[in-house]
Amino acid sequence: MEIEITRIDQPKAKPDESNLGFGTIFTDHMFTMDYTEGKGWHDARITPYSAFDMNPATMVLHYGQTIFEGLKAYRKEDGSVQLFRPRDNFARLNRSAKALCLPEIDEEEAMEALMTLLEMEKEWVPSAPGTSLYIRPFTIAMDPYIGLKSSPKVRFMIILSPVGAYYPEGFNPVKIWVSPEHVRAVRGGLGAAKTAANYAASLYATEIAQQEGYTQVLWLDGVERKYVEEVGSMNIFFVIDDEVVTPELSGSILAGITRDSVLKLAAHQGKKVAEKRIAIDDVFKAHEEGRLQEVFGSGTAAVISPVGMVKFGDREITVGDGGAGPVASNLFTDLMDIQYGRNEDPMEWIVPVK
Ligand code: COI
Repeated sequence: MEIEITRIDQPKAKPDESNLGFGTIFTDHMFTMDYTEGKGWHDARITPYSAFDMNPATMVLHYGQTIFEGLKAYRKEDGSVQLFRPRDNFARLNRSAKALCLPEIDEEEAMEALMTLLEMEKEWVPSAPGTSLYIRPFTIAMDPYIGLKSSPKVRFMIILSPVGAYYPEGFNPVKIWVSPEHVRAVRGGLGAAKTAANYAASLYATEIAQQEGYTQVLWLDGVERKYVEEVGSMNIFFVIDDEVVTPELSGSILAGITRDSVLKLAAHQGKKVAEKRIAIDDVFKAHEEGRLQEVFGSGTAAVISPVGMVKFGDREITVGDGGAGPVASNLFTDLMDIQYGRNEDPMEWIVPVK
């Protein structure tokens, strides 16, 4: 693939790594490629990071035909940079593309685009503990048209953002609120796609949760309102009777790459793991019977996030002693050690950046 490169005249000053927060600082350059029906993808380019013009009728602004991904580049102690399972992100982007009637990208071309951009922006990968360079590839409907159809003009972009912890709590436990009435997605809908609609659908209930003092919403299935699905920005895990369990991929939850990594790492650590339907009542029952050992979430942004409290209706439980449990702590350490190259990579998940 030909990528036309235009470099910035004056690189921006690098941010203070001790205070990165999440998702507010962007690097010097971005990747863009356009798609036109009948012509395919064209005009691959890397340009200075900047705003771009959009006709107010641009379809993505009205109908939400958009998909995105999230992955990270990590700086190793020896100064080199590496990625974690990037091809899985582009494969998932293509699954989301199918669900949203957006054109798929060539996964190897997307890798080439990402690698070229990262080689230019390598200095932006922070090295302070727990920091990384968050990578946001996304595809948006670009045709200016006030009518409903899938857009014949599309744009694919990659932007980069140096980040610290996603939750202000860091690895400290978060409190989650199980919504008794709001629904994020239903089977047969878009729940498994990484698309704006699912995140927009989560905002209202998340505000309620936050007003009540909780960090995030734990969603139940949209039909029976009984089975646990996921948290707005993470998949969810329970440790019950020494087994690490997570909701099965029902079609309405996101197939998290960190979720899959946690399942594989936990099995590699010799733990019993299972993907199955989990009723919220069974979680509370397991707690009553002293069998619920831990709850934690997983996601690229959140990494592994212990859950200290769960509230559902008028019932609220403190998980264990409310702190991070040993299973979440070990998985967090093992995962981070692989991602930051401090430990071997038994699953061959790492891709080095030149
Ligand atoms: C991620 O974990 O990468 C996500 O896309 C979640 C988002 C809410 C930051």
